[in-house]
Amino acid sequence: MSTDIIILAAGKGSRMRSSQPKVLHKIGAKEMVQHVIDQANSLDICKKEMTMHVVVGHEAQQVEDTLSGQNVIFALQSEQLGTGHAVGQALKNVSSDGVSLILYGDVPLTQSATMQSLVDIAKQDQLGLLTVTLDDPNGYGRIVRNDNSEVQAIVEQKDANADQLKICEINTGIMAVPNKFLHKWINQLSNENAQGEYYLTDIIAMAVADQVAVVTRAPASEQEVQGVNDKVQLATLERYYQLQQAKQLMLAGATLADPQRIDVRGDVQIEGEVFIDINVIFEGKVTLQSGVHIGANCIIKDATIGANSLIKANSMVEQSLVAENCEVGPYARLRPGTELSDSAKIGNFVETKKALIGKGSKVNHLSYIGDASIGEKVNIGAGTITCNYDGVNKFKTTIGSGAFIGSNSSLVAPINIGAGATVGAGSTATKDIEENQLAVGRGKQVNLKNWQRPVKQ
Ligand code: UD1
Ligand code: CA
Repeated sequence: MSTDIIILAAGKGSRMRSSQPKVLHKIGAKEMVQHVIDQANSLDICKKEMTMHVVVGHEAQQVEDTLSGQNVIFALQSEQLGTGHAVGQALKNVSSDGVSLILYGDVPLTQSATMQSLVDIAKQDQLGLLTVTLDDPNGYGRIVRNDNSEVQAIVEQKDANADQLKICEINTGIMAVPNKFLHKWINQLSNENAQGEYYLTDIIAMAVADQVAVVTRAPASEQEVQGVNDKVQLATLERYYQLQQAKQLMLAGATLADPQRIDVRGDVQIEGEVFIDINVIFEGKVTLQSGVHIGANCIIKDATIGANSLIKANSMVEQSLVAENCEVGPYARLRPGTELSDSAKIGNFVETKKALIGKGSKVNHLSYIGDASIGEKVNIGAGTITCNYDGVNKFKTTIGSGAFIGSNSSLVAPINIGAGATVGAGSTATKDIEENQLAVGRGKQVNLKNWQRPVKQ
């Protein structure tokens, strides 16, 4: 049986006070509407039988561009005439059998399990409706039930009478409907109500009239059905979402110094027991192997950190691979293309880029290592710089295993330094150095006796 997912995303969202369409604002660095699409995509439905529709209106092009390449059919609602009208715009591409699930681009945290429960109801020729009971139902459509507790209708706040306003069970807006009824009911909607809109919610009374059972479900948490209208609500959901991420990490074996002070803006895979100190930000795809320790204030993006490696405080690691038993930081910056082999050490104020650092090699202080390939057990002295850029082109530095580079050396690339070679401190090396050679490339020290310093004139 086919399933159509209809995501409403046409609204303007004026209260966001933003030039960006509301549904493109992000939770955990991912657009709200993308969260909805991703959860829908993880429904237990054969993908061949699923069609995703997004109803766009305000800043439609921007929304379509952001979601391009994702097998989504866009329906344009050029005037926002109500939620029923919005669903109507998608209907021309919705099959006549099967079921539709209606979701909202500005309700980002609805979980696929909740969606699934509604879809399963609709597949039995019933209307599945997600409702929730709130202490303060103000502003929402109220669920009207009869004496047998059967749902009779949804009444919008602005159309409700005094008794109906006291109902605390509200419409979340999320529902699943058999398509054969959806087509019929949407066509019958009128806009004769307090807001002059085509209310999707009016189909509930139509279902009752057609003797289609309306079956309600509740979400696992209130946040699943919370919409975002302004940046305060956006931040509230962001914090909730982050706490959920933190809980998942802890359940996977991470010890967090403080679950309130970690941000996951992507996917973190935990492979064993790890420790994460406060204020750590993870972005993109990150894998932490067993025994990893991440110090305070680190930013780890698109990286794998191998078993028992230590990323010390205030370090940044981006598009890099750190093997096992490595030490990085404090205050280190691994830029894209850095690969540390087992037991390598990168110390404070060291920047690396496109750099392969061999087993057990050390770059402990104040260095820049870029476009470099370094063998095993190499010691790079403090302040060493690979001069990889002539202002136009980049060149490579190769250093063989066991080499020792004295402090404050400039290695002018392209340059090859052989295994076991030594570079005297303060050298500017511009020529290749053979295996086991000592290279000293600096002016000779001159000592002048009784030197008179300048005096103030
Ligand atoms: C709607 C429900 C209400 C429910 C509430 C839950 C209706 C008539 N009312 O009310 O019962 O309690 O949601 O939050 O459905 N949209 C469009 N095109 C339109 C109108 C709306 O795409 O023409 C989108 C909006 O961008 C938004 C969503 O639909 O994402 C809900 O619209 P909104 O106007 O906020 O509905 P409410 O009045 O809050
Ligand atoms: Ca709303």
